[in-house]
Amino acid sequence: MNQQLDLNEYKQQIADLYSCRGQTYDQGDWHPRIAHRLVEHAQISQGQHVLDIATGTGMVAIEAAQLIGFAGRVVGVDISTGMLEQAKRKIEALGLNNIELVLADAEKLNFPAHSFDVILCSSALIWMADVSAALCHWHQLLKPGGLIGFHAFADTAFVGGVTMQKVAQKYGVSLAFSKPTGTIEKCHDLLKTAGFEAIEIKSEQDGSYISLQQAKQMWSGGSHPAPGQFPHPMKQLSSGQLEKLEAEFEAELAVLVTQEGIWNDITTFYTFGRKPID
Ligand SMILES: C[S@@+](CC[C@H](N)C(=O)[O-])C[C@H]1O[C@@H](n2cnc3c(N)ncnc32)[C@H](O)[C@@H]1O
Repeated sequence: MNQQLDLNEYKQQIADLYSCRGQTYDQGDWHPRIAHRLVEHAQISQGQHVLDIATGTGMVAIEAAQLIGFAGRVVGVDISTGMLEQAKRKIEALGLNNIELVLADAEKLNFPAHSFDVILCSSALIWMADVSAALCHWHQLLKPGGLIGFHAFADTAFVGGVTMQKVAQKYGVSLAFSKPTGTIEKCHDLLKTAGFEAIEIKSEQDGSYISLQQAKQMWSGGSHPAPGQFPHPMKQLSSGQLEKLEAEFEAELAVLVTQEGIWNDITTFYTFGRKPID
């Protein structure tokens, strides 16, 4: 992946974040589980042409490629060279030759209209700068009758993020995180507005108990890019305010501790729709 992409500052930060994470991204079972569920719900069949938006280390692309067989084709796009390098390594190790990886911004793809039977986006929709416009763009790339599927988290998901939103609000800072796709209704409306029909949303309860220490480590203090928001809204706070905010964040988390630990909700919406046939 020696090519370069001309990205704006927001997207370059995301690309850099994930390029750093590339080598360790596949550790743990959480991302693979979500990617697998999305593919499973999509019921991909032999011979289909599949676009994996923000393919990362290729989890969705690889599983789809194994289902579509030799007559099918998967294209995985991502802005992070580090993530794509991992995907390439895994694809070569598996000897799969029906996947193409493309370094590209998913909001500005150059594929001809009506290129794909299925478009999937796992764990990445909220990174798009304009989620609604991205869905309209992908609608054009689907064949009539084609399936779109994305996964999104409920706005109750991730205790660290929810707590950070709560305390930041007190300082006049509004953090979006999962809010744009945070309810079944919002996911439904996003697809409907982009022109999709036969919308189906499967909500799955996920999550686990974590320790107070693990929850405290979810504090980012504006050091990571904020999905859909640039510059990061916490950058407007002084270092003194950030220190106070972190202390309030930790105090809020301490209140949530139970005998089992702190419940870290990860309610997930698997959202599907079809492009109308005419
Ligand atoms: C949490 S990872 C998800 C990777 C993979 N889909 C999965 O389920 O494991 C988010 C990915 O979105 C990619 N990404 C974010 N914005 C993007 C954009 N505008 N175009 C393409 N990829 C993007 C990042 O580089 C990163 O690889």
